[in-house]
Amino acid sequence: MKQDLVDLHCHLLPGIDDGARNLSVTMELLRQELADGVAGVVFTPHFYYERTTLEEFAAKRRDALKKTAAAVREQNLPLAAKAGAEVYFTPALPTLDLRVLCFAGTPYILIELPTTHHPGGIEDTLFAVQQQGYTPILAHVERYPYVTEDPTLLYRWVSAGALAQINAAGLVRGGHTARLLQRYLRWNLVHLLATDAHSPEHRPVNLRAGYNELPGDTAARLRQNAVQVFLGRPVDPGEPCEPKYRFGHWV
Ligand SMILES: [Fe+2]
Repeated sequence: MKQDLVDLHCHLLPGIDDGARNLSVTMELLRQELADGVAGVVFTPHFYYERTTLEEFAAKRRDALKKTAAAVREQNLPLAAKAGAEVYFTPALPTLDLRVLCFAGTPYILIELPTTHHPGGIEDTLFAVQQQGYTPILAHVERYPYVTEDPTLLYRWVSAGALAQINAAGLVRGGHTARLLQRYLRWNLVHLLATDAHSPEHRPVNLRAGYNELPGDTAARLRQNAVQVFLGRPVDPGEPCEPKYRFGHWV
């Protein structure tokens, strides 16, 4: 297996969120990542501004990362890893020390939007984050009903400089979500593929399978983008196309 993939969104750190519940699950998932051809991982535990402080979050993440790094060294796993976070959207985001929340050593920050409602202030918040020199990556953009209903929202965010990430599961499971994602890809509104893995049973590591669902040139572009993000280098997002509503369909 070629080790040519990078997973930018996963919940593999032990005991910190709803992902891996202990170190042995963490190590099982990391071995699965390696078997899948993943060479680099960004650990992105959930961060909720309303539930915890930045300091508490950073301390917990540091402990979990230390434990994981020691086990990775001990088992000699050929894996490059860094800390990040999946930051739940809050208009307070620009007031926080974003260095703690971005992918370590890079300007990229993974932001999750609510699935239950369309919050106000997304555009202003993303703009303010970018003004501080960070590039927002919108997590699993296939999961927001208001974006499915009106994909011009995603077009606007991407046109303003955000990157968009999708979960491999959405492609692998097929059906409605996979068709939706193929449309987003056609409009050039997707830049990154990741696992969002939480557990070996329910939300597993499946990056290779996700890439296999994509046309070769698209897969190569997204793979390369993920490497660029991991290394903290710029991503060329290309030109997005604005979705148009025609006869009851977005085209
Ligand atoms: Fe996630």
